Amino acid sequence: MHSLLTARSAAALPLHIVSRAGWPALQDTLHPEGRAFALAQGFAAKPGQHLILPDATGAIAAVLLGVEGRDARRLDPFAPGRLAALLPAGDYALHGEIDDPGLAALGWLLQGYRFDRYRKPALPVARLVLPEGVDGEELSRVASSVMRGRDLINTPANDLGPAEIEAAIRELGEECGAAVASIVGDELLARNFPMIHAVGRASPRAPRLVDLVWGDPSHPRLTLVGKGVAFDTGGLNLKPDASMLLMKKDMGGAAAAIAAARMIMLAKLPVRLRLLVPAVENAVSGTAFRPGDVLPSRKGLSVEIGNTDAEGRLILADALALADEEEPELLIDFATLTGAARVALGPELPPCFTHDDGLAKEIMRLGMAVNDPVWRMPLWPPYDSLLESKIADVNHISSGGFAGSVTAALFLNRFVEKTRSYAHFDIYGWVPTARPGQPQGGECQGARLVYALARHFYPPRSPAG
Ligand code: BES
Ligand code: MN
Ligand code: ZN
Repeated sequence: MHSLLTARSAAALPLHIVSRAGWPALQDTLHPEGRAFALAQGFAAKPGQHLILPDATGAIAAVLLGVEGRDARRLDPFAPGRLAALLPAGDYALHGEIDDPGLAALGWLLQGYRFDRYRKPALPVARLVLPEGVDGEELSRVASSVMRGRDLINTPANDLGPAEIEAAIRELGEECGAAVASIVGDELLARNFPMIHAVGRASPRAPRLVDLVWGDPSHPRLTLVGKGVAFDTGGLNLKPDASMLLMKKDMGGAAAAIAAARMIMLAKLPVRLRLLVPAVENAVSGTAFRPGDVLPSRKGLSVEIGNTDAEGRLILADALALADEEEPELLIDFATLTGAARVALGPELPPCFTHDDGLAKEIMRLGMAVNDPVWRMPLWPPYDSLLESKIADVNHISSGGFAGSVTAALFLNRFVEKTRSYAHFDIYGWVPTARPGQPQGGECQGARLVYALARHFYPPRSPAG
């Protein structure tokens, strides 16, 4: 179990989660000194406000945390996690207004994440008593998978190129007993992945397609695809400085897919899982692909290049075409695909695109339920014509710049023909301002949602899961 969790603790201090409305009633249950102290400090149970209450000897007696009341439009299920990094060492037990104890505990664990590759930050030391009915092992598997994804995103591109993305997937394969194969460099041309090759060939760090397969071949096929651009300079359509600064996170889709795959495998869900990650660096050199080039694609469509900075959809298209060849029951991709998705919905709410209405409904519902929300956006058929090219089968971008996230999703859909349930997540992969359970930095958005979706469609068969 995670080191910030404890199954039980006789010495646990009560941690009262309380809204403004609940505060008067809670006051009556506190011992007189604690109550007097809280009132003297002006504690009013404002959302986010916390207070450590002393007993008569000056030791800690209890902790108060203000949260939104039930009348709020949206409660943050991770809110109690805020305290994980604020409290002194000790064991704490949750009490009071908690809707979902499992998510409260998960928020606590995820708050404890620090990126420690280059320096050793002080780690949170406050342990949480596992709430009644919550599976601590399951929680720990989910938290450690998310943290592995965050580490991958936070690692800068000088230490994480295409080969290191492959290494991370090979390590996952060893951990979970999955087979991993890769197609590297010019072999991509021989094996018909021309767009993955074209996008990645300008970098001295060879492009590749990494292919992990796990599980009983007779189980339903679930395939995850993740955009693995180790660094996105924009290519010859070079990004300006501010836009390039964060582009180490352009493998956030791969990180999310890796995290989701790990959760699915560790839970031993009854699926035949496939994880496909096209891993490249979108670099600038004399061998770079150019605006105006026409590329062949695995699917056979010729693709006119409007802008070398729209590289993600190209590598995904070849990977999705491969995925589609075996017609999985469910196909999901994650990608830090467009700036337009952020314009539309901001950093916290990635758009999700699918033609499958039933799937969309489950995705929206489960995203809210596990606090990994996404919002459905339309694959608006009339906009498909924006991808017309005068000289090739398709252009990979639309000329106008309207509905950029929608047209990117429409482009991807041209490469998925047979698979009936296909969803695309245009994630941000980054938390710009820390929130409870979400320290600033890399975040594998959608991973826990897709794990929940997999559990919903393919529930574990043994209690082990
Ligand atoms: N990786 C970027 C998208 C991105 C940018 C995601 C910023 C998150 C934050 C992607 O490869 C890209 O550059 N997309 C272009 C597409 C355009 C050239 C059609 C974009 O969104 O500007
Ligand atoms: Mn780009
Ligand atoms: Zn990109």
